[in-house]
Amino acid sequence: MKKINVKTIKLINFYKQINYNLIYSNKAINRYKKLGSFKLSDSKESSLKNLKKSLENIKNCDLKKGAKNIVFSDGNPSSKIMFIGEAPGANEDMEGLPFVGRAGVLLDKMLLSINLDRKKIYISNIINYRPPENRRPSDEEIKRYMPFITKHIEIINPKILVLLGSTAMNALIGNDIVISKARGKWIEKTFGNCKTSVIITFHPAFLMRQPAQKKMAWIDLKMIRDMKIKLKI
Ligand code: URA
Repeated sequence: MKKINVKTIKLINFYKQINYNLIYSNKAINRYKKLGSFKLSDSKESSLKNLKKSLENIKNCDLKKGAKNIVFSDGNPSSKIMFIGEAPGANEDMEGLPFVGRAGVLLDKMLLSINLDRKKIYISNIINYRPPENRRPSDEEIKRYMPFITKHIEIINPKILVLLGSTAMNALIGNDIVISKARGKWIEKTFGNCKTSVIITFHPAFLMRQPAQKKMAWIDLKMIRDMKIKLKI
């Protein structure tokens, strides 16, 4: 029989002491539990990819047929603040990104005024393909895209949801309200598993046409800033 040397005996004792069975067992240990939290963002990433794919595979949609690119989103998918506009315009269609035209320049300034930027928030639109001549999307088009934007909100799971303009407001809150009365108020809403605080404010394109309303938008922006502090975002 082969002799066991002192070194091997010490090693066996060491393994006994540290309960090596645990190390080789199939049971999850804390290290793997930590990996679980990475998995969450993995699943967010794959959910977003799947959502984008289903939008790209949409059939018999005139908006999609007439558009150059899908406009899915911009910003940080991990952000707890999500902004939703109406639909892409010509610049957005060209670049495949939301709010990159003149309205986007104003949106960036609005964000900056409360110390936000695109890396700190997430942006999308109710409709992901440019309507011809930048017309307002029809009720039917909005209805068709509703499951996608609600799923989008659910995946991002924001704590604060900012609706820019009446199209986003009517689609996600209801048709029986007017923006001049509904803006600047917090509304608790649930989208699937996502419970969020919603605020409606004027669309930057509207503010370019009606600059006198910027003072109201500033009130809304300060409410967003304060809520961000309150929720420790
Ligand atoms: N207006 C919108 O509502 N969305 C955009 O992406 C650009 C302009």
